[in-house]
Amino acid sequence: MEKGEQRECFAADFIRSNDDNYFDENSQLFVLGSLMEAGSDTTRVSIYDMIAAAATYPDWVERARAQLDKVCGANAERLPEWSDREDLPYITATVKEIFRWRPNLAEIGAPTSLTQDDEYEGYRFPQGTVFVWNAWAIALDPREYAEPERFYPERFLNDDLNNPLKGHWGFGPGRRVCVGWNVGEGNVWIAVARLLYCFNFIEDKANPIDTMRIPQIAKNKAPFQVKIEVRSPAHAALIERTCLDAVDAP
Ligand code: HEM
Repeated sequence: MEKGEQRECFAADFIRSNDDNYFDENSQLFVLGSLMEAGSDTTRVSIYDMIAAAATYPDWVERARAQLDKVCGANAERLPEWSDREDLPYITATVKEIFRWRPNLAEIGAPTSLTQDDEYEGYRFPQGTVFVWNAWAIALDPREYAEPERFYPERFLNDDLNNPLKGHWGFGPGRRVCVGWNVGEGNVWIAVARLLYCFNFIEDKANPIDTMRIPQIAKNKAPFQVKIEVRSPAHAALIERTCLDAVDAP
């Protein structure tokens, strides 16, 4: 930054805007580190969840593929783009189902506490009471979702499809909802669309995936065993072509 060579980004902007030293160095690092942590592991684990769901409930993958092939070509003509969103509602529904099926990293959310005494359904809660919410119990409650253990994107093909916060609590409830949901949803969407378009995910029957216990923190080893193969030589060529552009990017 001192040399003026850094790329423009939120961090550079944030540090520059602190000319009155309102945030000391620790606080600055904390703000920027929290954003990195909040946005990276959540996205990574959501992608793990999709792969686990594809390997253990392969029926929905066929339906996702049919739509992807219709839009991008059945012979690996091109990768899905964000601009395909309108034509790929099944992918949007799949992303919502990922967030519902295994709400990740915030199983009890970020605790919040009352700033004043409150009352709810006859229960009194004094100021300072800490509330958490049980994300998994809600996500897997058969009164909320039919066959909750099943990965079934169709449950989100409804009028609320294009509201990423509606129908699940993957980003948390109420006003304290994840501030990065738009970025998070978009990143998961493009990753899911492209992975499903290009790869098959096959469960090793001798080593079944325990989808209730996908490790969320272990970063140095695979979270579960799964066989990943490219769909066809044409898909392999498409990946190579597209990755070359990425390698050449400045
Ligand atoms: C798939 C991606 C993501 C998921 C599933 C996710 C999920 C969540 C959840 C469940 C919470 C707790 C909300 C609550 O307790 O009510 C949260 C909070 C938060 N998220 Fe995300 N998040 C994602 C991506 C991101 C991204 C990309 C950013 C920023 C770049 C981000 C920044 C934050 C921050 C700063 C908070 C704390 C908000 C607060 O304390 O009020 N998240 N997220």
